[in-house]
Amino acid sequence: MTLWGGAFEGGGDARAPLFRRFNDSLRFDRALLAQDITGSIAWATALHRAGVLDHDECGRLTASLEDLGCSVAADPHFAPDAEDEDVHSLVERLLVERLGPLGKKLHTGRSRNDQVSTDLRLWCREQIDTRIGEIRALQASIIGGAERHRHAILPGYTHLQRAQPVLFAHWCLAYVEMLDRDAARLADARARLNLCPLGAAALAGTAYPIDREQLARDLGFDGITPNSLDAVSDRDFVLETLSTLATVGVHLSRCAEDLIIYATGEFAFVTMDESVTTGSSIMPQKRNPDALELIRGKAGRVVGAWVSLATTLKGLPLAYNKDMQEDKEPLFDAMDTISMCLGIMSIVFSGLTVHEERTRQAAMLGYANATDLADYLVGKGVPFRDAHEYSGRAVRLAQSRGVAIEELSISELQAIAPEIEPDIYDRISLDAVLARRDVPGGTAPGRVHEALVGAKHRIEAAMQGGASTP
Ligand code: ARG
Repeated sequence: MTLWGGAFEGGGDARAPLFRRFNDSLRFDRALLAQDITGSIAWATALHRAGVLDHDECGRLTASLEDLGCSVAADPHFAPDAEDEDVHSLVERLLVERLGPLGKKLHTGRSRNDQVSTDLRLWCREQIDTRIGEIRALQASIIGGAERHRHAILPGYTHLQRAQPVLFAHWCLAYVEMLDRDAARLADARARLNLCPLGAAALAGTAYPIDREQLARDLGFDGITPNSLDAVSDRDFVLETLSTLATVGVHLSRCAEDLIIYATGEFAFVTMDESVTTGSSIMPQKRNPDALELIRGKAGRVVGAWVSLATTLKGLPLAYNKDMQEDKEPLFDAMDTISMCLGIMSIVFSGLTVHEERTRQAAMLGYANATDLADYLVGKGVPFRDAHEYSGRAVRLAQSRGVAIEELSISELQAIAPEIEPDIYDRISLDAVLARRDVPGGTAPGRVHEALVGAKHRIEAAMQGGASTP
């Protein structure tokens, strides 16, 4: 049974089986069951207010919908054998089965077009709140890792060449910042999508005197969509949500890539806990970073979700077109994928061990203090161009021995530049080099400590305040 069979000779049941499978969306839009019921309860109340349903009718519809809502909440596989066209048809059929002709009154003045947009906005809103919570939990886990290894020094890289030393905690905080912006972007997308389309009906606006503002308030929306054509054909709220999820995916992927490199035998900077690694069926020595590789890989699929919907929407005339049904699977998949990635990354950080001796050694042998030696010579009156040259020579000599610059003797250094005095060792030690990056946002330990405390407070406050709820 379809919702639209009246004008069809076969009552809509003449559809070819392959076309039914092609057309029907219940398989995936059943994810919107709870939202469809919530929206329907509010719609029944709005119809009552508009004088379309009497008090008793509204009460019976509402009670039956609430009862249905309880069954749905109790059973994740609710109505597994249903063969309805979509989630809206399923809810309506069940209502008619329970209430008879009264069930058929609910769809007065409403279309599946404004209904599906409402359901999807309600769904996005809830999911975004949960994702923001997951982002906060991941940030807390990253900060936990930074605190466990608060003294660890890493070589910082540009072009994946060792450039200047940074604190491991500074590296951690870089990802905390990215995730802060991601949470803000999600909250922003939520604010923009939190408008109620109900009352737009199919495309031109409902012909019943619905109090749209009150209806929007009942559903926890911040207001109503101002244009009925736009209300039913806008999917840029899905697109914006997907683009934000894609950015989260990209950030997690970069972090995963850093850690995959750091966990190689060649770097051996970090070890991941066994709970997020796998072995090889043939090479007993291997510990593979599958969790991180999947995070990196799945970012592609989330970016793909955005591309998929953008491509679907770009040629669509106003208003609703069935193409728009293709918005759901990418959205559901991307939400689910990012949720898992955030959770897995949290586990990775809670079990991450930094080999501090090894990273310190790598930072020293990266000759990250060559600039500081040049700066020292400039301080002694040597022109920068010459200072750069002398410092380069010191690097070459140290490299030929496999030692750090500060491991060369004073006479070796003075043979390169007589201006060098024994105070050089204090100036170019790893700790001195770090301490000198003492600007806001720099890697000097004091600054990083401040940033860590600040981030921790910010995230704790955000977690306590909870994600925004309607
Ligand atoms: N399943 C449809 C979708 O997701 C619901 C809206 C159907 N509207 C229609 N006019 N056929 O887009």
